[in-house]
Amino acid sequence: KELVFSGMQPTGNLHLGNYLGAMIRWIELQKTMECIYCVVDMHAITVWQDPADLKRQIREVTAAYLAAGLDPKKSIIFNQSQVHQHAELAWIFNCVARIGWMNRMTQFKEKAGKDRENASLGLYAYPSLMAADILVYRATHVPVGEDQKQHLELTRDVAQKFNNDYAASIAENGYGDAFFPLTEPMIQGPATRVMSLRDGSKKMSKSDPSDYSRINLTDDADTIAQKVRKAKTDPEPLPSEAEGLKGRPEAENLVAIYAALTGTTPEDVLRDHGGSQFSGFKAALVDVAVTKLAPIAGEMRRLMADPGHIDAILVDGSDRARVIAAQTMDAVKDIVGFVRAR
Ligand code: TYM
Repeated sequence: KELVFSGMQPTGNLHLGNYLGAMIRWIELQKTMECIYCVVDMHAITVWQDPADLKRQIREVTAAYLAAGLDPKKSIIFNQSQVHQHAELAWIFNCVARIGWMNRMTQFKEKAGKDRENASLGLYAYPSLMAADILVYRATHVPVGEDQKQHLELTRDVAQKFNNDYAASIAENGYGDAFFPLTEPMIQGPATRVMSLRDGSKKMSKSDPSDYSRINLTDDADTIAQKVRKAKTDPEPLPSEAEGLKGRPEAENLVAIYAALTGTTPEDVLRDHGGSQFSGFKAALVDVAVTKLAPIAGEMRRLMADPGHIDAILVDGSDRARVIAAQTMDAVKDIVGFVRAR
């Protein structure tokens, strides 16, 4: 059975990269597929989070999901820590995954920085928890941005090794020749890697110290306009064909953002704006960005005024998620050889 799972960390402002790289896709998918969208609060604490900030950010990410168009009647929306089976399966995966696999994770190396000895053990095991998020629902499709590719490869490796290591027990327990699916990453669309507005060689990120590097989903129209106007560009006018964007990362990024916001392609954008100076193109980009994003920010503000309503959605989503996760965990316990009440 096909099932979509994806998640975001509540570790700061959500930005245009999160929206264009993932959320837009999520909203499309909920129309035709069964979808589970998670706020991964247990991943968030792999680096220090102030408790009061964390609480607010969990609600804010949930508000962003809802404001952007995720529908709690169609999709399951919840926060990870309310479904303990994620942590339980992650432990089993810690025993399936190899230390060598973790050592190859580029995101760990980036996040741990130079002082690797002092990174949390949770940050190191992060991909194992991520595999558990997905596989505790035996999800088949995971829509994410380009930066999550390596983590999803590891998820497949974990599923495959579990299926191999426990092949005999999986068959004995009546699950045929594979228990976990080999999940397919869905890294698609015109903006799977949105770059910083200040540096076309770095991805747009929550952790960039410069707020001018990103457009936050909570930014108002004036802030969006200012950030786009200050975005780095080169001195040439826009080319009339996508080919001409090669070697011009900042131009390529702004065109990709425009295309993603309008649901068109870079070719379409250049057909209309090829030959324009950046000043003119940026004015047009401000228009489409404000039209698309300002209502989301407004709706987020409205939702944040009633945290009780947000919490109720998360509780309801968790209850629905837990039913699926519990079934998987019972099966996993039988397969692994744990004794349990029946
Ligand atoms: P996170 O919270 O960093 O990002 C959430 C989603 O936004 C995408 N994204 C981007 N896409 C395009 N351009 C960018 N500049 C950009 N920045 C972020 C990410 O690819 C992601 O899809 N490890 C995950 C969270 C996670 C998860 C999961 C995802 C935990 N468990 C299970 C999928 C399935 C993360 O840190 O995403």
